[in-house]
Amino acid sequence: MTSLTGKKIIVVGGSSGIGFGVAAAALEHGAEVVIVGRSEDKLKAAEERLGAGRVTAIPADMANEADVARLFDAVGAFDHLVATAGTPPPNFPIGETDMDFVRGFVDGKLIGSVMLAKHAVRKLNKGGSMIFTSGINKDRPPVPGGAVVATVAGSFTYFARALALELAPTRVNIVSPGWVDTEMWDEIVGEAKTGYFEQMGGRIPAGRIARPADIAPAYLYLMQNEFMTGETVHIDGGQRLV
Ligand SMILES: NC(=O)c1ccc[n+]([C@@H]2O[C@H](COP(=O)([O-])OP(=O)(O)OC[C@H]3O[C@@H](n4cnc5c(N)ncnc54)[C@H](OP(=O)(O)O)[C@@H]3O)[C@@H](O)[C@H]2O)c1
Repeated sequence: MTSLTGKKIIVVGGSSGIGFGVAAAALEHGAEVVIVGRSEDKLKAAEERLGAGRVTAIPADMANEADVARLFDAVGAFDHLVATAGTPPPNFPIGETDMDFVRGFVDGKLIGSVMLAKHAVRKLNKGGSMIFTSGINKDRPPVPGGAVVATVAGSFTYFARALALELAPTRVNIVSPGWVDTEMWDEIVGEAKTGYFEQMGGRIPAGRIARPADIAPAYLYLMQNEFMTGETVHIDGGQRLV
């Protein structure tokens, strides 16, 4: 395992939720952290929560190639890319699919990840890695309405396997979380979140829904373990078992 002390880590999605948890944990391990998101207000709030002056915040939309290119030019050489960014998935029954919504979702999550990889390779230091985020929806798709999110999340496993071969010895991995208590849930279900979490928390072996701090160590492990590549790490409290 290599140390993260002094390593430069970019967290795309670091202003909220899982990405914020990764940024906080990487700082605790002595890394230099850059957080990225679209909203400058969210970035500013995250910077304050992480401790003024401890991180660099760069506004960028990973669905916009000019933004992505500018991001990596601004950061320069770095060691690990973590992408947790994402927006609430489409949840329409297939016959009622809103195609503009689907295209926006796929652009932000999948095409955006391809663009991050495309531009990251120019600046990634030897010994570095990329980590993208999929999720439980590929294994336990919501019914009805889960087809698109399951397809997108599932594709990341194969993205990492192919890219790990192409970019070797640079490592490429995926983290696949189960439900995590983040701001995204407030957006999707609002106040009903507590009820959803109590119900699912009571069903899964871990006995509760994850917090971002439960998930962050999976990203840190993948950054630090030089023998992990082309892999999808599931961290879901046993949610795939129920
Ligand atoms: N929470 C869960 O239960 C769960 C479970 C499994 C998988 N996941 C997946 O994990 C990922 C992170 O989820 P989360 O719960 O941490 O969400 P979150 O709390 O809403 O955070 C999402 C982050 O991504 C950023 N972002 C969104 N679109 C972006 C874009 N186009 N370019 C740059 N930044 C962007 C957001 O900032 P801006 O809005 O300012 O851009 C924010 O920082 C998602 O892909 C989600 O599907 C989540």
